[in-house]
Amino acid sequence: MANIQSLRGMKDIIDNDSELFNYFIENCSAIAKKYGYGYIETPLLEETALFKRSVGESSDIVSKEMYQFIDKGEHDVCLRPEGTAGVVRWFVQNKKDRAGGLNRVYYHGSMFRYERPQKGRLRSFHQFGCESFGEASVYEDATIILMISEMLNFFGIGFNLQLNSLGCKDCMPTYKDGLVDHLKELELCEDCNRRILTNPIRVLDCKNDSCKETLIEAPSITENLCATCDTDFEKLKEILENNGIEYEVDSNLVRGLDYYTKTAFEFVSDNIGAQSAIAGGGRYDRLVEFLGGKPTPAVGFAIGIERLLELIIKPESDEEILYVGAMSADAVDMVFSAVYDKRETIKVITDYKVRSFSKHLNNAQKQGATKIALIGDDELTNGTIWTKDFTTKDEKSISLEEF
Ligand code: HAM
Repeated sequence: MANIQSLRGMKDIIDNDSELFNYFIENCSAIAKKYGYGYIETPLLEETALFKRSVGESSDIVSKEMYQFIDKGEHDVCLRPEGTAGVVRWFVQNKKDRAGGLNRVYYHGSMFRYERPQKGRLRSFHQFGCESFGEASVYEDATIILMISEMLNFFGIGFNLQLNSLGCKDCMPTYKDGLVDHLKELELCEDCNRRILTNPIRVLDCKNDSCKETLIEAPSITENLCATCDTDFEKLKEILENNGIEYEVDSNLVRGLDYYTKTAFEFVSDNIGAQSAIAGGGRYDRLVEFLGGKPTPAVGFAIGIERLLELIIKPESDEEILYVGAMSADAVDMVFSAVYDKRETIKVITDYKVRSFSKHLNNAQKQGATKIALIGDDELTNGTIWTKDFTTKDEKSISLEEF
């Protein structure tokens, strides 16, 4: 019988990658907390209707990529493809919309999308995200962008920020009508022709070269914003400029999720191949209402952790690691008791297999130990322990009390 393998597009995170993973989460969490965000953990499984209503039925995520099934209680459920919908469900379910005030939460965890796996595109991946509720000011959008920049700068990651405004319920429908009239006249690919009917702004994002060429003359969203959206977008750009954050306006940046209004952005890296978006987000002022809550302005983002890990180098650790081993069967008991208190002051790895002196030395170095302590029959008789510091090369036998 063949051994069981992990599923396609799903991978284990281990060794250096899991060290980096924790390093990333710890530091992003610390930065998010500094901006007033508290941690939220929402379930991995939610009702399918939640994503249909939020991410949108016409989006690729909902129409093609969900891990959806009927559970034992006949509920239509799916593994979350993203984190925002669950957080908004929490917000409405707990009547945070009625309490008013600001709510800022951050999360990290697995997301699932049945996409075609390739470098940087997995079926099970992780996001670190933040969602801010109750603040309509464009300063909040700028603060979020500033926070992501701070996170990426902390890890020394270079990025390009692409920015757009997707308008609001007043200007978007008029823009869409004009866009559809324009698109209907063009020769476009099959996907685009389908999207003209289901979600015309997604046509702007088509990756097909011939469509890109044909779409050059398409009306641009940023030139069709209402006065309020236009003023807000100008203000956002001014704040970013005044605070040294470079950006590029990309009026074809429409994002793959349908809930955005006004600000939409992506942080892109040149160093990770075709799947270059390392973070994405924007404002979604209507989503709380779509999920049954009182209209509440909101803005957020998520970083793709696996893509980030490709770019981070963790600083060398100066952590001390002590390896303790037994060179005779009788010494194993002593090894166990000798390290008992040691863990309060140093990271300790033990090996309960009886090995020769040189095998223990090799083993300790393979495991990254900086110090080694060994007990054999001679040490047992004398009540001592042999120690060596791999950094200073200093070696000596000391009494167990001293150890
Ligand atoms: P998103 O752009 O779909 O936005 O995903 C955010 C990030 O997750 C992407 O920029 C990318 O780095 C990573 N990502 C997405 N799909 C994959 C995949 N298949 N494999 C590896 N990494 C992936 C959202 O999910 C929104 N919920 C963000 C947001 C929060 N907007 C407002 N609040």
